[in-house]
Amino acid sequence: MEPTTPAEPVADAAIRIDSHLGADERTLAEDVLDGLTRPFKELPPKHFYDSRGAQLFDRICELPEYYPTRAERTILTDSAEELSRLTNAAELVELGSGTASKTRVLLDALSAAGTLERYIPVDVTESVVRECAAELTGEYPGLRVHGVIGDLERHLDRVPPAEGSRVVAFLGGTIGNFPPGSRRRVLRKIASLLGPDDHLLLGTDLVKDPEILEAAYDDAQGVTAEFNRNLLQVLNRELGADFDPDDFDHVALFDAEHEWIEMRLRARREHTTIVRDLDLPVHFDAGEEMRTEISAKFTAERLQSDLSAAELELVHWLTDPEELFALTLSRPAGALAEPGAQRVD
Ligand code: AVJ
Repeated sequence: MEPTTPAEPVADAAIRIDSHLGADERTLAEDVLDGLTRPFKELPPKHFYDSRGAQLFDRICELPEYYPTRAERTILTDSAEELSRLTNAAELVELGSGTASKTRVLLDALSAAGTLERYIPVDVTESVVRECAAELTGEYPGLRVHGVIGDLERHLDRVPPAEGSRVVAFLGGTIGNFPPGSRRRVLRKIASLLGPDDHLLLGTDLVKDPEILEAAYDDAQGVTAEFNRNLLQVLNRELGADFDPDDFDHVALFDAEHEWIEMRLRARREHTTIVRDLDLPVHFDAGEEMRTEISAKFTAERLQSDLSAAELELVHWLTDPEELFALTLSRPAGALAEPGAQRVD
């Protein structure tokens, strides 16, 4: 082989992908060791998304009960023009970009004004980012894609420096997966990606009738239940655990005090499972629950205070006609106070 021959696949000048997830990545093992040895068992929701989990999530987005995806898309579509006018974005950084078809709505919105040059998807799933990059450079001529494969809590500092006015989008309500303390920490890290004229476009689900919320996380077809139990298959495959998913019931309930949905897996019978790779026996009492996800629901007040704790300032609040979901545009606080800064409204 010629030393100068480019590696496969053939390099595309418009695409660059940097991966920060090494083969030594032990987060699942560490999370299992921590989470399953606690008095109240818990696993973080990021481990749901193996390829089957990602597929199930895509099905969830189509469910009649799961309104957030539709509501957010409605808002994005309806406010496309306004968003591109307010942001003048030359680049879009999308956190947790996934396979989401919403990316196109957003790219359409931001490229409408003809200013968009670069798309920076940040996601843990490399294959998805690669496929998406190839498709998007085809669909949006002139667009460069710089993918960052990494974890939102650890690799945000690997996002390349801005080359022009930037919008960081964090859609879908995924910020709600972080408990309040880490939520603010993540928001602060996101804020550090923004210059004075840059914006954060944040999707958040809103507090509403608990019946509507609980139905969205416990659909009649049982897709969400399957999504929840799929986590056990991930542990079986990745860590040699011997969970029988049929030993667990899916539970979804709205915690009114914390204003979040909790998903849990409840053991149907007393049993002990072995996580072979960790040499870890895990005992479940009959009825014992393991928390697998929190999904926070917001009021305008709570969102405001989380944003200001991260030194972000709300610029624009957008919602769907039924006020199910909110899409907010914010920017570094103090940007307005600076002499000569331009007001956007
Ligand atoms: C992808 C985190 C936004 O919390 O609504 C959907 C994940 N869990 N149904 C959410 C999810 C159960 C979803 N997010």
